[in-house]
Formats: sequence, structure tokens, C-alpha cells
Amino acid sequence: MPPPMPPILRFVLCGSVDDGKSTVIGRLLYDCRQVYSDELGRVERDSARYGTQGTETDLALLVDGLRDEREQGITIDVAYRSFETPRRRFIVADAPGHEQYTRNMATGASTADLAVVLVDARKGVLPQTARHTRIAAMFGVRRAVLAVNKMDLVEWDHEIFESIRASWRAIADEIGLAGVEAIPVSALTGANLTRNGASAPWYAGPTLLAHLETVDVEESPASRPFRMPVQYVNRPHADFRGYCGRVAAGAVAVGDAVGISPAGTESRVASIVVGDGTRDQATRGDYVTLTLAPDVDVTRGDVVVDADEPVEVADQFQARLVWMHDEPLAVGRPYVMKLHSREVGTAVTRIRHRLDVSNGNELAASVLKLNDLGTVNLATNRPVPFAPFDESRALGGFILIDRATNATAAAGTILFPLMRAANVKWQHLYVSKEVRSRLKLQRAQCVWLTGMSASGKSTIANLLDRRLTIEGRHTYLLDGDNVRHGLCRDLGFTEADRVENIRRVAEVARLMVDAGLIVIVAFISPFRSERDYARSLFSPGDFVEVFVDASLEACAARDPKGLYAKALRGEIRNFTGVDSPYERPERPDLRLDTESFSPEECVELLTDQLDRELPAPHSPLTEDR
Ligand code: ADX
Repeated sequence: MPPPMPPILRFVLCGSVDDGKSTVIGRLLYDCRQVYSDELGRVERDSARYGTQGTETDLALLVDGLRDEREQGITIDVAYRSFETPRRRFIVADAPGHEQYTRNMATGASTADLAVVLVDARKGVLPQTARHTRIAAMFGVRRAVLAVNKMDLVEWDHEIFESIRASWRAIADEIGLAGVEAIPVSALTGANLTRNGASAPWYAGPTLLAHLETVDVEESPASRPFRMPVQYVNRPHADFRGYCGRVAAGAVAVGDAVGISPAGTESRVASIVVGDGTRDQATRGDYVTLTLAPDVDVTRGDVVVDADEPVEVADQFQARLVWMHDEPLAVGRPYVMKLHSREVGTAVTRIRHRLDVSNGNELAASVLKLNDLGTVNLATNRPVPFAPFDESRALGGFILIDRATNATAAAGTILFPLMRAANVKWQHLYVSKEVRSRLKLQRAQCVWLTGMSASGKSTIANLLDRRLTIEGRHTYLLDGDNVRHGLCRDLGFTEADRVENIRRVAEVARLMVDAGLIVIVAFISPFRSERDYARSLFSPGDFVEVFVDASLEACAARDPKGLYAKALRGEIRNFTGVDSPYERPERPDLRLDTESFSPEECVELLTDQLDRELPAPHSPLTEDR
């Protein structure tokens, strides 16, 4: 009997641009005869056109399959390829090396067992090499091998190899990567990649392929408690309701008692459907559909768990982030967190530190910028079922999505929950917003005026406030300049400070609406995501977004405080409209053009818009729960 095949090896290739990643993968595929003849034909044709290797067939072109990549000469998306030798099957994630494509590197690493770190012998360990090695480790890669490539271009110089090995080793040791080997290779000739290279007599170790064929990868045990995040609720007809997902940990069998997290309800597995058939059990990695009896309420994003060992649920975490967005991370800015199959609103409440990728030092930071790695505190707006990333990649890895653009802003890993949430409970109040507003004979609302400085917000807000007061309404006016004298006097005008300014004001406005008041808010509030966040704090209809619109020229001409003149002379920094952006509302409830209408006319338009209806009659005090 042949010996059993070692498990599949999933690896990710990291390195900097031009270190030769695509050539390495091309060579592995070629030598393992996984290259189909028609693809070879294409490569031979294209080599003449785009190749960087003269008339030689350029193996990188096998991998850089996308046309625009070929024309740019860089790889831009993560590509998974599989190949095999008689000894093992491999799945490789080709993670692009260009600085701005760190995201794909993180994606590739998040399913890999091992990282092959590629360094150009002429350049040595670059910041990008260090960053990628750290990202690989952060996303759960525990083993790495260093391939020092292009050794032919430094005449297989042993000293060069040793010094690169030493500097990478320092990083790998500090991160705690295991099984660190270093191999001198030439991807172009294939030396020490798939066959021994005679040119380096001082090297007696295995080729890269031989190392990959034999390296041990620990299979994490499948015996941990059962967890399956629900990706999809399948309800083809009234008689069938199944919960689809991938078993993230453990095993499940028909008849097992399971819990539904975060609701905490319990049920039993009635059947396990796989493809067209049914099975008695399923284990980690299987894609299954479960049916439950009794049928309890389960939605996408819930986690089906072993009834005796439920998952943790929390709404505050400490986490690591790789920032991937051109816009830096601002503390307090709302993002959408996608954790397994669940989406929740979240915000970073504190940046604990940023990592210096070259030496692992923790640096104080108020923002995280593109490609930065850092540790943060996060708060979600609802409790989420999770596991620390160290215990479960599937339940502890997440991405943050920018609310305005839907772009992936960051990838992260949960380190541990912060306990505060569990100890601070929401206190139910007997007197509700409805009761408070009925007593005042009005509908409580937030009227949010946004627009550039000098667009007319404060004037309109003041007139509206007076008019409503004369009508006998109970109001309050929150004005940017005034609030900055007290509640927000610690804040300036950087993006991060404005985000925090608006967050505080939105929270205060919500409390005031809860108190039954009509709250008028007049703040520049230049960013869409914070205005959206403010809206999300209110019940539908309680928030009226009013865009006070005047062109930059008109505002600069009015300039009541002389601030535009100063900003244009460069005496004030981050001035909205001059050197800090104003994001126009896309769908305001009302737009007031203050170049065409007087402030009084605008107030007229605005009062027409306000809903004067009283909340429905209600028992004077709500019941105790
Ligand atoms: S916001 O962007 O955070 O919403 P806010 O409405 O509180 O701004 O404050 C705006 C007021 O601060 C302006 O009306 C102006 O008088 C003053 N100000 C001082 N510096 C700036 C600046 N750099 N950008 C905008 N407004 C500024």
C-alpha cells in the first residue's frame, strides 16, 4: 500500500513588486505539468509581446492571466491555483505585491497554512516584505519559508544569501513563525525551485518544491464544538426550511441538540442535506443545509452551535486591523462590519497603536492610513456571535466596509472581547419619547441642517427656532460654533475631529428628541457617512436632513467671519470647501437654495416640510417589562 498522502497544502506567496512571484508560480505549475497546451500556446505568443524575458517563454504570463495586468506588468488580483505532485496537492494564492494591493494579500493569507516569502537577492528584505510577512501571520499563517530569488543575478553569493536570511529571520522570530527555512533560488532557471541548482554548492537543503511536499501542516482538530454560521436561509416551498452554511468547526449529526446564537434558542438537527442527498453527519469544511425540529427562528448571520457549548457574544472587541482604504481610519466613524455571514454597524472607539512593520514597535497613532497595521477597540451596534481569531478563522476574521462607497476599508481579526458591554445593560425607562412629546403637544423631531460655512445654516436655524417657539413648540438649537465652545471644545477641524464632533452632536440630538423636543442642528457636517450615522440613530421620519446649499463662490463672497479669506491665504488649515471636502447630500429631505431664496422664504419652505402630526395616543406610562 502506498503511504497516505499528506494533507493538501494551502500557501500564499508574498513579496514585493518584481520579486518574481508570478514566475515562481508559473515555474511550479509548468514543472508539475499542470500547464495545458492551449495555455502554453497563448503564453508563447504573449511572451513575444509583453514578456520581460526577451525571447524566452515568460512563465509569469501563465499566472498574470488578466490582460490589463499583462499590459501593466503587475499582478492585481488574488488568484488561486492548484497543482499536484505524486506526493501532495497544493493550492496557492498568488497575492499581488504592489503596495496598494495589501487587501489581496490579506485575503490570500486568510486561508493559507504556510507563506512562501519571496525576496529579490539584489534588494534584500524590503518594508513590503516585512509588512506581508506580518499580515500573513496576523491572518493565521503559522509557518513560512523564505525563498531568496534571482540568486543567478548575484552570482549565487553565499554571503548575500546569509545576510538576507538573517534579517528576515529576525522578523519571523519576533512574529513567532515556525519552521523557518531559507532557500536560494532562481525562478527564471528553476534552480532550487523544482530541481537542485548546481550553482550553489554551499546549499545542501531541499528545493522549494521538495520542502513544500514534505513540510508538516498541523491540521487543527475538527473535534472542537460545532459551529456553523448561516449564510442563507433556503425556503423553496412552505414545507421546507433549511439553513445553509459551511461547518466552521466541529461536527454535527442528525438528532444533535443545537443552539442558535445570538438568540440563545435551542432545537435539534432533523436532517443534513448535502447536494441532492442527505447524510447522517457533517464535519468541518462541509457545505451543508440543516433542517431543525422544532423549527425556531433563524436568520442569515446567526450561528448554529453545539447546544452545550455556545459561542461567545459581545459588542465590544479588541482587534487587529490592516487598513486598506485611501481614506484613513477615523475614530468614531461608522463602518459596516462583516463578520462571518453577519453584517453590523460598527465604529472604532480607540486606536490603541499602530505597528512599525520593520521592527514590530507599537507607535501611538490617531489615524490608520493605507496599508497600516494597528490594534484598535471596536464597538458594534448589536451584539454579535464570534470567536477570537486564534480559535477560529471563520468566526474571528472580519472586514470593515465603508458606508459611503461600499469599498472594503479594512480586514481585521478579533483578539478578545472587551467586557464592559456585558456589565453595562440598557435600562428600560417608564416614560417614553411618545409620552414626553404628547405632553408637549408636538411631534419630537431632529431637523439637521448641513452645508458649508456661510451657506446660511445658523441664520435659518435661528429663525426657525424663534418661529416654532412663538407657535408654542418646545425646541432646542444645537449650533456648530456654540457647541464647540463647550461639549466639543477639545475638537478641531481634522477629519477625525469632525467625525467625533458630529457623533457627539448626533447622540445629544437623539437624547433631546427622546426628551420630546424639536431639535434643530446646524453643523457643516461635511461627510456623508456621519450624516447617515446620525440618521440611523432616529426612527424613520424623526430625522429631517436639510441641505442648505450655496456655491463656494457665494459663501466666500459672504464670508461673515472673514474665514474664507484667511483659508484662501493659507492661514487656516482644513477649511471646508477650500482644503477640506464637503460631500453634498445625495438625497436630502429638503434642499434650500440660499442664493435664490431669502432666509425667511427658506424657513417657510422648511416649516411646510415638518410633520406636525402628534404621535398616536398612548397609555401615559409604558408598562414595566
Ligand atoms: S463640522 O465640520 O465639524 O460640522 P462645525 O459646524 O462644528 O463643523 O463648525 C463650523 C464652524 O467653525 C464654521 O462655521 C466656522 O465658523 C468655524 N471654523 C473654524 N475653522 C474652520 C475650518 N477649518 N473649517 C470649517 N469651519 C471652521
